[in-house]
Amino acid sequence: MADSHSLTSRADAPPFDLATDHASVDRELRLLCESDALGVLPAPVADAIRYSILGQGKRLRPILMLASYRACGGNDDASALAACIEVVHAYSLVHDDLPCMDDDDMRRGRPTTHRVHGVAVATAAGVVMVPLAVRAACDAGASLGLSNSSQAAIVRELMRASGGGGMVGGQLLDLEGEGSSLSVDQLERIHRAKTGALISASARIGGIAAGADDRGLDALTAYGDAIGLAFQIADDVLDATSTTAALGKTAGRDIELRKSTYPMLLGVDRAGERASSLVDDACAALDCAGLRTTTLERLARYAIARTS
Ligand code: IPE
Ligand code: IPE
Ligand code: MG
Ligand code: MG
Ligand code: MG
Repeated sequence: MADSHSLTSRADAPPFDLATDHASVDRELRLLCESDALGVLPAPVADAIRYSILGQGKRLRPILMLASYRACGGNDDASALAACIEVVHAYSLVHDDLPCMDDDDMRRGRPTTHRVHGVAVATAAGVVMVPLAVRAACDAGASLGLSNSSQAAIVRELMRASGGGGMVGGQLLDLEGEGSSLSVDQLERIHRAKTGALISASARIGGIAAGADDRGLDALTAYGDAIGLAFQIADDVLDATSTTAALGKTAGRDIELRKSTYPMLLGVDRAGERASSLVDDACAALDCAGLRTTTLERLARYAIARTS
């Protein structure tokens, strides 16, 4: 995911390297794991949080947030703020894998958090990760010198995307839909909520932190919404076509759980075409606000071209 290209429509924004962003986010996640915020927790819960947060994920959401931040003219180190989004995402994975949800044994190439730390501790760890992320986001926003209203807007965005109208609501619909054959429209609604909302919020938070105007935020919203849905379509396709070894999580789980998926409803080829056309839409949406950077475009393509 290295990016050393110059930017297409915003030649003023700095070129940068996504591997560097990945490393910066990991550094901030490690710092958070060593902080007092975890020190006050019962040791088993703190250990489970560290296990979850420090697992080797792609860090797509924080990297996307940083790319949006720069596309909108941000030029400080916003990686501590970006890391907070990853904490919310990591929590969503801990709960997604629980026996009462997808009941999965493997995540990021190793046993799931509840398999190592037990269901009760993993459940508590996931819950605690939400206030942990909010507190860290406030601290990071203040360190970046953001106004109180920008800090509040960022926290609101993060919580809106992960709440009942976003990730958690989507996860509930996903569970409810197991065993029935949903329509494409119903599935789209679930995917936009359970996965798309946090991805879209990542793009928007980058814009808010950089002080983007409404036109910029609207463009980032349209971009994020489109790649958020495309990302989950690709996840469905990978679940059906890839292997556990390549994914680092159990392949074929959707069929086992009798979930409706894009490849099941449309076939693998048409699901791929739908994802691809969403990525085209995403990139076109950026044009309206002059935000089509090489990096945002590459991230959009990566959302569906990835192999894990
Ligand atoms: C997995 O997300 C959960 C979904 C929303 C499909 P990622 O594919 O981003 O997982 P990591 O963070 O790289 O492990
Ligand atoms: C999960 O969707 C979405 C989340 C909010 C975590 P999946 O259940 O398809 O994600 P994986 O395949 O387990 O990573
Ligand atoms: Mg799930
Ligand atoms: Mg799952
Ligand atoms: Mg999946």
